[in-house]
Amino acid sequence: MNIPFLDLSRISPVLKNRLERKFSELLESGIFSGGEEVEKLEVHIQQLLKTRFTIPCANGTDALELALRALQIGPGDEVIVPALTWVSTAEAVVLVGAKPIFWDTDEEGLLRPDWDKAVTERTKAVIPVHLYGKMVKMEQLLEKAKKLRLFVIEDAAQAFGTTQDDKAAGTWGDIGCLSFYPTKNLGALGEAGMCLTQDENLAQKIRLLSNHGQPIRDQHELIGRNSRVDSLQAGFINVMLEEFESNQKKRKALAKQYIKELSGVSELILPKGLLEEDHNAHLFVVQTKKRDQLQVFLAKNGIGTAIHYPRIIPDMKPYRVDGDFVTARKLAHEGLSLPLNPYLKAEEVDWIADKVEEFFGLIA
Ligand SMILES: Cc1ncc(COP(=O)(O)O)c(C=O)c1O
Repeated sequence: MNIPFLDLSRISPVLKNRLERKFSELLESGIFSGGEEVEKLEVHIQQLLKTRFTIPCANGTDALELALRALQIGPGDEVIVPALTWVSTAEAVVLVGAKPIFWDTDEEGLLRPDWDKAVTERTKAVIPVHLYGKMVKMEQLLEKAKKLRLFVIEDAAQAFGTTQDDKAAGTWGDIGCLSFYPTKNLGALGEAGMCLTQDENLAQKIRLLSNHGQPIRDQHELIGRNSRVDSLQAGFINVMLEEFESNQKKRKALAKQYIKELSGVSELILPKGLLEEDHNAHLFVVQTKKRDQLQVFLAKNGIGTAIHYPRIIPDMKPYRVDGDFVTARKLAHEGLSLPLNPYLKAEEVDWIADKVEEFFGLIA
């Protein structure tokens, strides 16, 4: 068997057909920026995530940068960021001229709840990242942030559709940031992102910032930039949304199968809470001291895996700072993402689980 980590060409023929139809429709309409598809996307996400305002933008990294700029965070300010995340979380902070202050994560890769120990008089915000699709405990985090008068920007790039106490990831903080990068659980056929907020003024500001500071053409009220989303991408996401719920069900069913089949492997730590409401089963990250050997063994058997992420951000050259970050570093050394996506078949999960057991000497 040859099982890639993720093969997006495996989307169903029905969906491919709908996407092709959408492309033809948009080609006929002659509208490639803004327009009806972008407006529809805004409304779809508002309804699905029960959020007041949705502002689409070019990608998830821009969403973070726009959020920071809308909250007037810049030079001299500090922002608390988990040590293990995709680079964008820290990158956006540096891009606005502020300083990321890294804090360790828990075993699941989420910002440790004692992050407030990193707060100084320069701290303006904290960015909880709902890594791998699992949500940070938001009520607890918001309570602390409120007391400390800090803004909360949720990096929900990996947590689309996840809810905690029935409230979606990205709708808890001052601003939530989404990514529709193609490999996400709701992906475009290219790049796209979105800011969510419940605050009308912030929504207006983000909208201005993402479109050259202009509320209407040629009236520039702020120094903004161009971070508009393509109409084509908005149209494709609108189509992808039709299969979102059923894809989530498939993810959860496959995750359940993995958990059942791998729970006897004592040398493997399985991800926690994957079947709960506040995890969207975006990634299935197992942990083992033999991570590198396991990855090579699986590759030799035709199974693609990935590492999210092999290095913590404070160890990277442009962000280098000293610090132990013990748990985040351990996850970077021991975490391995097994294939988990709606295009995977149950027999493929069986095969992967068998190979993992074989590696650990549990079956011949
Ligand atoms: C945690 C996290 N933050 C931010 C981003 C940035 O999103 P994008 O790739 O759309 O810029 C991503 C996605 O890659 C991500 O996983």
